[in-house]
Amino acid sequence: MQENPIKPPKQSFYSMIAEKQYAPELADFITASPTAFHAVASARDLLQKNGFQQLDEREAWQELPTGKYFVLRNESSLIAFIWQEGAQSIEMVGAHTDSPGLKVKPNPVLHNQNCFQLGVEIYGGALLRPWFDRELSLAGRVLWHETGSTELHSSLLDFKRSIAIIPNLAIHLNSEANNQQEVNRQKDMVTLLALIDEKADFHAILTEQLGRQYSLPEDITISDHELYFYDAAPPALIGLERQFISGARLDNQISCFAALQALLTADAKETTQNCMIILNDHEEVGSSSLAGAQGSFLRDILERLLPEPGQRQAMLRNSLLISADNAHALHPNFTEKHEPQHQPLMNKGPVIKVNANQRYASNAETAARFRQLCQQADVPVQEFVVRNDMGCGSTIGPLTAAKIGVETVDVGVPSLAMHSIRETAACTDCWYLYKVLQTFFSPAQSE
Ligand code: CO
Repeated sequence: MQENPIKPPKQSFYSMIAEKQYAPELADFITASPTAFHAVASARDLLQKNGFQQLDEREAWQELPTGKYFVLRNESSLIAFIWQEGAQSIEMVGAHTDSPGLKVKPNPVLHNQNCFQLGVEIYGGALLRPWFDRELSLAGRVLWHETGSTELHSSLLDFKRSIAIIPNLAIHLNSEANNQQEVNRQKDMVTLLALIDEKADFHAILTEQLGRQYSLPEDITISDHELYFYDAAPPALIGLERQFISGARLDNQISCFAALQALLTADAKETTQNCMIILNDHEEVGSSSLAGAQGSFLRDILERLLPEPGQRQAMLRNSLLISADNAHALHPNFTEKHEPQHQPLMNKGPVIKVNANQRYASNAETAARFRQLCQQADVPVQEFVVRNDMGCGSTIGPLTAAKIGVETVDVGVPSLAMHSIRETAACTDCWYLYKVLQTFFSPAQSE
């Protein structure tokens, strides 16, 4: 197919912003957010810098005056909102903070000859092959106390450098390696950290790293940890024309970042609606948790904000939730994997996801509303439906819609290699998603 050599001016202007400004900022956010805990901390920092006030679920709340607020749960989920006295709706954007990966086991230390290794659990539906021969770093949260004290402290830890690898077996020792071969999740997925003769003390290693990051009391004891290995290489803008962003956790930090930026740039004075973002942990493992979309977090916060059930229900029934999570872009080597009439392309805008069996929450009405928003934002839009002979993924959309009774549309940026250690998307699509969400939160600006 012959490409039109003259691009429409708007498109190239959008691409320029996306590639020069937005995508590098997104890449920085992803680099600072190796785990759900860090993603929430990155979001918290941005919110605080922009005048959002933190609320605490462990305290009673008075009726909130007009203002900007946020609340965390489990340090891995976050709800932030612009509250307007007298508003009739809560326009919401949902996304998830977690990504598939390798989580360090409680007693992880292994010794094989002089090899110090750590055992991991597989978190979520990770594509495992790409984890081999990759430089890995480690991050998460550590619970510790001063030795002799029972008061617990939680600190985020991030080695920020390559400290481990999972080496492949050489092809000479495994002639079947290039034929379809199973990855044994217990035997094969063990990380290699060092060559030492004595048994390593993992807690001492963590204590040393914490000491590098924080000024801590002299004598601390590590109690527990939730640590994940991650790709030590930061995201990169790649391709002949730098049109792609390649990096870890694009699912779903592209959407977290877009939601956050849309809220930060919402013009609170101009809107007569409440605006809210909900960033949930544990989507990749089914969402049924304290901090997940099947949990009580959002409902609890809504009940606090709107204690009167009739008023709450009326406001929710007036509102829309845009559930943003990446979609599958057409892979040029595997075009047969897509339904022929529904092949989302990179660079062609966010995708509305539809499923007759309600794996996605979109319906004709909510899809139409999203389409209108795209039109207002001057952003192209596409549709996805899975082939009838293939299984369909799901998102936090249907869970949240069912739980609180809000009209919902499932959308997302088209991407390649979902759940691999590195995924790929088009920079412009990331910016398109932000642009639509920003229009959603600031309708007055875009009129
Ligand atoms: Co996702």
